[in-house]
Formats: sequence, C-alpha cells, structure tokens
Amino acid sequence: MTDIATRAAAVADEARSRIAAAATLDELKALDHELLGKTSVLGSLKASLRDVPPEERAAAGRALGEARARVEAAVAEREASLAAVARIERLEEERLDLSEVLPTPPLGHLHLITQTWEMLEDIFVGMGYTVAEGPEIESDWHNFEALNMPSGHPARSMWDTLYLDPGDGSAPETVLLRTHTSPVQIRTMVDAEPPIYIVAPGRVFRRDTPDATHLPVFHQIEALVVDRGIGFADLAGTIEAFVKALFGDERTTRLRPSFFPFTEPSAEFDMSMPDGGWIELGGCGMVHPNVLRAGGLDPDEWSGFAFGFGIDRIAKELHGVDDLRELVGNDIRFLSQF
Ligand code: DAH
Repeated sequence: MTDIATRAAAVADEARSRIAAAATLDELKALDHELLGKTSVLGSLKASLRDVPPEERAAAGRALGEARARVEAAVAEREASLAAVARIERLEEERLDLSEVLPTPPLGHLHLITQTWEMLEDIFVGMGYTVAEGPEIESDWHNFEALNMPSGHPARSMWDTLYLDPGDGSAPETVLLRTHTSPVQIRTMVDAEPPIYIVAPGRVFRRDTPDATHLPVFHQIEALVVDRGIGFADLAGTIEAFVKALFGDERTTRLRPSFFPFTEPSAEFDMSMPDGGWIELGGCGMVHPNVLRAGGLDPDEWSGFAFGFGIDRIAKELHGVDDLRELVGNDIRFLSQF
C-alpha cells in the first residue's frame, strides 16, 4: 500500500472517533471543517498526489477518496443523530401538558337544614305563597297574647319559654326568644291586607334538654292563609299537597283533633309511613276569631287556616337521620353526606 493510502486510512479512523464524540451540532460543524476542508490533512494529502509516481497515483487517489467518503459518512450519521436528539429536546421544552389535573379544592355545600328549608319554600312558592319573616327576639304580645293566650293562660305552659332582659327597662317576661313561628301570623295580618298566603320559616327556641328528637334551638315553618270563604277542606288539601310534593305521591296525611289556643277547630297532622305507621308532623287549624281580631281583621269578613311544623324533623325523615343532635354537631363526616 502506498504511503498516502496508509496515512489516509489512519486519518479517517481517528477522524471517525472524534466525530462520534462530537456533543453538539456546532462542534460537529467545526470538526467537519477541520477534517474535510481545504486545509485539512486529507486536503493536503490530496495535494501531494501529484508527487506520487504515475503508476501508483490511481490507487492512492482511490484510497484517499475512500477515506474521505468514510469521514463524510461519519459526519452525516452523527449529524442525523444529534439532530434527532435536538428535536426531542425542543419538543419536550415546548410541550403543553394539557392532561395536567389540578387537585380540586374542597367545596362545601348548604347545610341539610338549609336545603330542607329551601325545598319547603320552593314547594309553597310553587303553590302561590310568598315568604314572610319575623324576629327571633319577640314580644310576649306577638308570641302569646295576640295568639289568644293572655298572661296566665294555662296553654302558655305548652312552650318552655326563654325570657330575655334587654336592659332597657322592659317589664319582666315581656321580651322573649320566640317559641314558635306563629307570631309571624300576627305580624303579617297587622302589616298586610288579605288575601294572605304566606309561609314563614325560621329559628325558634325552647328551654328544652337536647335529645334524639328535641333541640332547644330548632326550625319551624308556619303557613297562614286568610281569604274569603276559606274552610277546613282547604287546610286538609293543602297539607296533603305539600306532603306529597315533598315525600312522594304514595304518602298520605290524616288530621287528629287537638287543641291550640290560636285555632278553632285545631288538629295535629300526621304523615303515613311506608311500614303502615304514621308520624306526627305538626299542628294546624282554622284561625281563631280572636287571632284575626288581634291582626286587625274582621272575623265576619275573613276566615283562614294556619299550620306549623318542624323543618328539622322533615330533614330527619327525608334523609333517615336517627338523632336530631347530628344536625347541629358540626361533624363534617356527617354533614358531607348530604
Ligand atoms: N305553633 C305551634 C307549635 O309550635 C304549631 C302550630 C299549631 C302552628 C297550630 C299553627 C297552628 O299555625 O295552627 O307547637
């Protein structure tokens, strides 16, 4: 082998290992220039071909061409693989990860009592009623007297009352935490002209020890209708309609004679249970003439019915809560179920 051929092969071998080690496209470009350019070793070997004896020149030229081709192939191969890596890196940098899932912040929801309260309002609003309100701190007159329970009336003992001393010189036992939502009947009649179709949901208070079926602070909803020619059948039909709207058509209701000073006649109303039993929901009756008078209405012109029941009890029945105290225990494991 000629001297040129041997050197060219050695130069190509060394060049190939340097090319394989090039770490970037820029580095490779510099190597390409150094190893294949005019001033490269291969370039100067080509120039020296003219000093080779003519009979050896063709073989030396061929060997030189082969060496050059091997170096060029190595550059092309390295270039392709560096370009592929660069492309992957670029794509990775530009990648938008649209599949990223952010943790959802924990969201609360309305309390079970509020949900039930709003359901009841919706049902009555759907039947044409409006929603009325009254204060939680009430006068003895609205809570008892105007509801046909003058002071000393034995029926007052039906409610264990929490009296307040507002410190403004009010006489003892004239200011209290309302024991029921019935005083809103009086406030509505005093303020508005019939026809009256209202419901009054609200918080009420009694001096009671909490147990599975009683809370000292609980919620009632009161209904009052005053119009011309209202009769007991309107009352019974309204109770039946709201119970069916709330619990489903398979439920029915019944009225049992009872006593409340503010209604005459009075009744308690029960709802049928799937097991064939009945549960008591609340009290009702035809508004007593003395109550209409206290509200500024003439009982010869107007008649009406009223009923009231516990919202918490309804929530308990709707959701199978065994103990009313769960509703106010603020245990998130209980509340988050609803
Ligand atoms: N206020 C009564 C109570 O808390 C419930 C009630 C009974 C309301 C009869 C009424 C009614 O409107 O007519 O026990």
